[in-house]
Amino acid sequence: MKDLIKKLPKAELHLHIEGTFEPELMFEIAKRNNLKIKYSTIDELKAAYDFNNLQEFLDLYYEACNVLITKKDFYDLTYAYLKRAKENNIVHVEIMFDPQTHTERGIKFSTVIEGIHQALIDGEKDFGISYKLIMSFLRHLSEEAAFTTLESAKPYKEIIDAIGLDSSEIGHPPSKFTRVFAEARNQGYFITAHAGEEAPSSYVWEAIKDLKVDRIDHGNKSLEDPNLIKYLAENRIALTVCPLSNLKLKVVNNLNNHPLKTMLDAGLFVTINSDDPAYFGGYLNDNFIQIQGALNLSENEIIQLARNSIEASLLEDKQKKVILDNFKF
Ligand code: ADE
Ligand code: ZN
Repeated sequence: MKDLIKKLPKAELHLHIEGTFEPELMFEIAKRNNLKIKYSTIDELKAAYDFNNLQEFLDLYYEACNVLITKKDFYDLTYAYLKRAKENNIVHVEIMFDPQTHTERGIKFSTVIEGIHQALIDGEKDFGISYKLIMSFLRHLSEEAAFTTLESAKPYKEIIDAIGLDSSEIGHPPSKFTRVFAEARNQGYFITAHAGEEAPSSYVWEAIKDLKVDRIDHGNKSLEDPNLIKYLAENRIALTVCPLSNLKLKVVNNLNNHPLKTMLDAGLFVTINSDDPAYFGGYLNDNFIQIQGALNLSENEIIQLARNSIEASLLEDKQKKVILDNFKF
């Protein structure tokens, strides 16, 4: 089974580039920028990766981002992830980045996106990994701030494919961002939003009805509402599920209780993703391997999950077909 998982071509659709910041690289970048990290050693830093909820993780994630200053920093962060992606036999990535995490502390939008984008270009050349870019708004900030961010993205319209919504979920429902997502849709962006990670199924409904999302990030709590399950299945709205993230952030107390199998059995269009792998103990293959073991998923289910990742991606139909035609397992 592990061999099958490693061999399967996969797309990663829910990946925060800032969440791939490995401690070794964090210390290296901090040093070259003459900045101090709160922790004196890698082990001390790693010991802090013990979260009780999403907010505890986000506090550390945003703090770690403080050492990212130059275009090269964003380049190195992204290129390091792409190397890992290649090792995981990922053939296509849809990377999320949070520009406000950086512009809020005085880094230029252009520095962030140009560093990330150059690494994606080089990664495609060096590893054959195709890519899309998802710009995500921070939901703990205002809708006005999201509008400003959308405006900053205008010169980069050709390289940003989708708009997302992330950060602290509870208390910041999708409806807070209805107008800015209407504008993003007007501008032609594909829409995705984190919903139903910690907050209830009503947040998933709002993402669908108010933001008119094309895809849902997480969506675990959708299972609370049979009407929502029916709606997601009938409309083939993909969910980008992140098992190890859910475990580390205590969305589930044990992978044996993870809702993925129930989602599959309910006919939902689910995919497996790593979310913030540097913090959650594993990249994409580890997510597949651990959830397969915990839920005793069959080979067919694993193959289906890998196929779903290609089908739910933003690739064109003919590009999907080329990849799927190679699924001879
Ligand atoms: N930002 C990075 N990872 C996130 C997650 N799992 N949920 C919400 N916002 C995030
Ligand atoms: Zn996420």
